[in-house]
Amino acid sequence: MISSTMKIEIEKSKSSRLASTDFEHLEFGAVYSDHMFTVDFKDEEWKNPLILPFQNLSMSPATAALHYGQTIFEGLKAFRGNNNEILVFRPQAHCRRMNKSAERLCMPQISEELFMEGLHQLISIDHQWVPDMEGCSLYIRPMLYASDEFIRVKPSSNYKFIIFTSPVAKYYSGTVKVIVENKYVRAADGGIGFAKAGGNYAASLLPAKLAAEKGYQQILWTDAKEHKYIEESGTMNAMFLINDTLVTPALSSSILSGVTRDSIITIAKEWGVKVEERKISIDEIIEAHNNGSLKDAFGTGTAATITHISAISYNGNEIALPEISTRTLSTKIAQELSDIRLGKTEDRFNWVYKIQL
Ligand code: COI
Repeated sequence: MISSTMKIEIEKSKSSRLASTDFEHLEFGAVYSDHMFTVDFKDEEWKNPLILPFQNLSMSPATAALHYGQTIFEGLKAFRGNNNEILVFRPQAHCRRMNKSAERLCMPQISEELFMEGLHQLISIDHQWVPDMEGCSLYIRPMLYASDEFIRVKPSSNYKFIIFTSPVAKYYSGTVKVIVENKYVRAADGGIGFAKAGGNYAASLLPAKLAAEKGYQQILWTDAKEHKYIEESGTMNAMFLINDTLVTPALSSSILSGVTRDSIITIAKEWGVKVEERKISIDEIIEAHNNGSLKDAFGTGTAATITHISAISYNGNEIALPEISTRTLSTKIAQELSDIRLGKTEDRFNWVYKIQL
């Protein structure tokens, strides 16, 4: 818990938006809960932790983050379990990853104590915003940005860390068709692709728009050097089942270390499934499709959980992947993950953080 010198000051909202929110028709990222947590980094330390009504920020047009992209975020979820418990999935892992992103972008570290205390108190206050409908959750968005009012290119001295939340349905309601990208890149070796930095998503927007114009909801990103090896799929990590082996690109400086990716690998290994984290060329995937050994392909992420890929387009040819009903391993893993997150099955990996109300 937070040290006594870092007591969070709380200002409650006077007019909750809860009653006017349509929980039956949630989409991803459209409504926000009543409160947010904020804390400032100034004079080399975190100061002034607050929980206050969700509101606009006021900032100078010279704010560094707006110009040079010194901004990072996380995405995690809280679920409503039995006995009125709120269950947050792997918050400490998200805190660790945020600190890796922060290190790469010259930003200050956030102690696990500060991250967890802000998150705990915010969710306790807004617990009624955690949906209990099948497939829905409270998406938690921690973010950290450079707040110096200074447009020289340098690491900022001041930062703001914010956590806000949003009740959401699944990011994708069904399967996705993907197109192999062989012109643009999301991230290059040695860059910031492994960090959850705003700039990575900015770089993906034009190629994603062009893909959507061709009828593809996502891109299958390939490596920056040769456009030969698969990196990620859209905003997700990519996984394939070739015969009985679960294959996924090995982590690198250009691939995000997905918490969902790690959770799936952990469950698969526990079940005795052979898992390979290695380079996978697009040619290998096409070959596996041609010889019938490609049984499954899917993206993984907090927002998307497991999203099946129905077709892959490569060099103008589209390959159709097996029927979803045949994809038993990924479907079973998705169910297991959901059961762990909802507290319906034993939390043997210690992934679930309970907020008792
Ligand atoms: C997540 O899965 O949480 C993501 O970060 C994807 C997002 C950009 C919506």
